[in-house]
Amino acid sequence: MMKTTISLSTPAAVETECLVAVVLDHSPGTDKNKKPELKVASTDTAVSSAAGDLLASGEVSGKSFETNLLHKPGSLKAKRLLLISGGSAKKFSSYDLRRIAGAAVRTLKSRGIRSFAFVAPSSMPAEEAVRAIVEGAYVGNFDPDYYRSDRKDQKIDALTVVASGDKTALEKAANEASIVGESQNFTRDLVNEPSNRMTPTILADRAKKMCAEVGLKCEVFGPDKIKEMKMGAFWSVAQGSDEPPALIVMKYEPAGAPEKPVLGLVGKGITFDTGGISIKPADGMEKMKYDMAGGATMIGAMRAIALLKPKVKVIGIVCATENMPSGKAQKPGDVQIAMSGKSIEIINTDAEGRLVLADGLHYAKQLGCTHLVDAATLTGAVVVALGFNNAGIFANDDDMYNRIHNANAKAGEKMWRMPLDDEYMEQIRSSIADIMNTGGRWGGAITAAMFLKEFAEETPWIHLDIAGTAWMEDQKPWIAKGPSGIALRSLVEFVKGFEG
Ligand code: BES
Ligand code: MN
Ligand code: ZN
Repeated sequence: MMKTTISLSTPAAVETECLVAVVLDHSPGTDKNKKPELKVASTDTAVSSAAGDLLASGEVSGKSFETNLLHKPGSLKAKRLLLISGGSAKKFSSYDLRRIAGAAVRTLKSRGIRSFAFVAPSSMPAEEAVRAIVEGAYVGNFDPDYYRSDRKDQKIDALTVVASGDKTALEKAANEASIVGESQNFTRDLVNEPSNRMTPTILADRAKKMCAEVGLKCEVFGPDKIKEMKMGAFWSVAQGSDEPPALIVMKYEPAGAPEKPVLGLVGKGITFDTGGISIKPADGMEKMKYDMAGGATMIGAMRAIALLKPKVKVIGIVCATENMPSGKAQKPGDVQIAMSGKSIEIINTDAEGRLVLADGLHYAKQLGCTHLVDAATLTGAVVVALGFNNAGIFANDDDMYNRIHNANAKAGEKMWRMPLDDEYMEQIRSSIADIMNTGGRWGGAITAAMFLKEFAEETPWIHLDIAGTAWMEDQKPWIAKGPSGIALRSLVEFVKGFEG
């Protein structure tokens, strides 16, 4: 929990452990030898003059994430002034501001400071700035050091955003951003847990507990119900594990929402992916505890939606299971019948995510969902295609793509559209069943999405492949190494986009 308040005072008058202000470079052009023209992004002349000597000294480059800390700054009431550079003034956006706010949190908490005030840059609308600062601060405040006995438990517990405008509107923005930030960190906590402490049953229990807290309906179905519902694709993955699978269904049906649309958020919840009989190499296999990130994202998104209360119906579905080799595990060559009735030839048991999602998507339609989004750490191939900086978007509908693209811009998350041409279907046609679960080496992220498309059928649908973006391989100034919580903010914006 981070207590968040809005202050309309002039920054100089704010009493705080540390006032944080953004420094932007106003120099034109991109000449390597140019001299930066640095200015504090605030109209308060007292802050500018407190920073004046330092900015004029030539010691500050203005490059993003550079920090300078002054004690007893000029005429300011603050005990300290943290100047944090945001790069070029011309390019500076709320995307950058989120990260700068995260970096401020990480800089200050590592020094043992627990509260600070952040001056909203005057260059963008105040509400947009408040959202970015609060969301970014939450992202920066998360550290996955729960199991370390030397953890410092350093957290920022109070943030004041200094801005000008309508206080009620700014407080609403801060409050909504806190809900989103907390939900994103809730997701990151789930993803961070190792598979021995995050089995399908435990994931379902965490979802149930969250749903009870925020007033969502939640049902969890076990092996018997999964078999009874003829979820043959989901079960084919679950059958190899001693841990029972869980089908988690969360419903948000607010009073006054129209009958339609009903949005379905379907997440891949593989709590550990060994690959099954097509077993993965040992090197790096420990990371496959995060193969439930898509599911955790949907659970966190449902939490945010329940608290933000948009007037639109949403159903969250998570197909949770381990993917294990065992005497009961499915084998390459097996044929499985999905809930939709389609037959699947299993070529590689490590292509399990698409199997559980096939039944999850079909079930979502049965529950009445008119629009579908799934999120999944689905393929290594999407990492080859897009690296770590963009999640893959696949859509069978341009309106759905536009909606998620607009949501990405509001949420400050990067995703990139990938193709879904009919020709790719040839790669997953089977000679003995309707479809194969892998399409060979080339275009692996696309053939995986084509497989899912066969189960979304005519329903407007988006698939987000977050394999390269759900886990930070290294820490960055604004975020710890580990689970990123990618896609949650975009999903929340996407849902809000259907309101009214
Ligand atoms: N969970 C993996 C995908 C993955 C890879 C996630 C790297 C995060 C990082 C998925 O279940 C998988 O194993 N996919 C296979 C598919 C292949 C067998 C067609 C892959 O990408 O290698
Ligand atoms: Mn796999
Ligand atoms: Zn997987």
